[in-house]
Amino acid sequence: MSERVEIMFTEEEVNKRIRELGEQISRDYEGKQLHLISILKGGTFFTCELAKRITVPVTLDFMSVSSYGSKTVSSGIVKIVKDLDDSIEGKDVLIVEDIIDSGRTLSHLMELLEKRKPASISLSTLLDKPDRRVVEVPVDYTGFVIPDEFVVGYGLDYDQKYRNLPYIGVVKFD
Ligand code: IMP
Ligand code: MG
Repeated sequence: MSERVEIMFTEEEVNKRIRELGEQISRDYEGKQLHLISILKGGTFFTCELAKRITVPVTLDFMSVSSYGSKTVSSGIVKIVKDLDDSIEGKDVLIVEDIIDSGRTLSHLMELLEKRKPASISLSTLLDKPDRRVVEVPVDYTGFVIPDEFVVGYGLDYDQKYRNLPYIGVVKFD
């Protein structure tokens, strides 16, 4: 069985959409300072591209969570692998995630971060698969809504591979 990747969104399409999100976020946070929380590892490519397009002052932190489960399905039990370096108390926080699937990871994470008393907390995701949602999560900024397919590239992996692809694609097995 061999794997191949079919392009879903080209690098140009992805970057254009991220630029639009950056402009929207800059307008929404005008006069404020924004604290980005990038979710490792998948969210980092989106974070870099987005941060460059935001015109209000930005600070940046990283968090790594793992949800126990198989390669393609998350269980909803979230473990903090790497916590934030800095306190988020009183800050306007924007979480930057690669994809929301069942919503379990993010709903757990947001609950946890709310307890740390940020001034506000919003959520941005490059991709959203609403058909797969098990737990509701309030998404404020979405790059692309996609059908229920397993996608890779632009930070997203299949078994840790393909994160470095500059586009978003679907893994096909044949
Ligand atoms: P959720 O808890 O089910 O929303 O899982 C979200 C996490 O599952 C994402 O942060 C990804 O790490 C992973 N994931 C879900 N769907 C995909 C996909 O299509 N490609 C790659 N990773 C995915
Ligand atoms: Mg992830």
